Amino acid sequence: MSIELKKNIDWVGFVDWNVRDFHSYDTQRGATYNSYLIRDEKTALIDTVKAPFADYLLRNIREKTDLNNVDYIICNHAELDHSGSLPMLMNALPNATLLCNAKCCETLSGYFDINSWKIKIVSPEDRISLGSRSLSFVNIPMVHWPESMVSYMPEEEILFSNDAFGQHLATSVRFVDQWNLAHVLQEAKSYYANIVTPYGKQVLKTLEAVKTIPIKMIAPSHGLIWRTNISDIISEYLRWASGQYESKMVILYDTMWESTQKMAEEISRGAVDYSNSLEKSANSYDVQSSKSPSSALDVQLLHIRKTTLTRIATEMLDAAAVAIGSSTLNAQMMPQMSAVLTYIKGLKFREKSGFAFGSFGWGPGGPENIQKWFEEVKYPVLRSPIKAKFRPTEEILLQCYEAGKMLAQKTYLLAQNQ
Ligand code: FEO
Repeated sequence: MSIELKKNIDWVGFVDWNVRDFHSYDTQRGATYNSYLIRDEKTALIDTVKAPFADYLLRNIREKTDLNNVDYIICNHAELDHSGSLPMLMNALPNATLLCNAKCCETLSGYFDINSWKIKIVSPEDRISLGSRSLSFVNIPMVHWPESMVSYMPEEEILFSNDAFGQHLATSVRFVDQWNLAHVLQEAKSYYANIVTPYGKQVLKTLEAVKTIPIKMIAPSHGLIWRTNISDIISEYLRWASGQYESKMVILYDTMWESTQKMAEEISRGAVDYSNSLEKSANSYDVQSSKSPSSALDVQLLHIRKTTLTRIATEMLDAAAVAIGSSTLNAQMMPQMSAVLTYIKGLKFREKSGFAFGSFGWGPGGPENIQKWFEEVKYPVLRSPIKAKFRPTEEILLQCYEAGKMLAQKTYLLAQNQ
């Protein structure tokens, strides 16, 4: 089944309703691999699909044209969700030349035997005429692989943006304006947080380049197509790439016998009480002065074994502060907390201010190792770790409550003064 974007420009990709794990990305809403067919004097296919779905892609192309008619396959990105079906495609489309940049060619040669493929290396100076329309190319290295590239059709002002501006989202419709915008933006945020975050500087450079070209449509390689709300998604990307803080703090914890959980809950209670007290005073001020009350603090209290890595990363993206707690197991933090912290470290979020906490029995390990992690990733540490032996005493719980208030105050300050 294909869907028309413009006359003779069709989506011919695959909607993967069943994928739930995309190399550890939790795809509860499925995914799509978008491929676009442009028919003009020349016929071009932009990007392909995961290997198991090559037949669906070929069937969609066949609906529109004879397979012999395809002149070009443009490979914007060598990752296998877009290139995996190239061996089948290069075989089934006998007249197709693969267009990609030199880095992409090198990467593809690491995955496939490309010796028999007709390949033309393209660079940003090249413009490929398809007849009444054309394609030019912009390299966007490290957004999010070294060979990443986007294709642009000036006549229709369509940016084929590959992974950029995409979302992991299986839907029966193809355009953002046919779905719930808030949900699309949330999925785009999750995609950004989990896939793109480490490359924020490169994203900002790319957005600078994007500003110089007129765009009426952004056709990404995952999820819904932006023919509306283009300024919304670009401004969200600007916000995410610049690491803007929201009035938001995250409490991540793992717990063995609920001691660390009690501490986490007290930290949360302190933070929420602080936020409520601010809002109350802002409201009473509001009555007298007609000024808006301050925004409420978003406190995310996340048990890390009940929350996916994908969600944790998404919540971390725009948080200003974080408290991280773990019970002690074999003189270490809990093992899944290690996995979470390894993942967060790799994503290179803008630094979050915070502190460590947790419980122990007969020896140290949990909070101390989290403290070391804070130092390693250079997150500002606001206080020494809060530690509870077996069960947190009233005194320790009070420390947690006060630390929660302090973290909330810091969060507001960071969000307001950035
Ligand atoms: Fe959708 Fe980086 O592949």
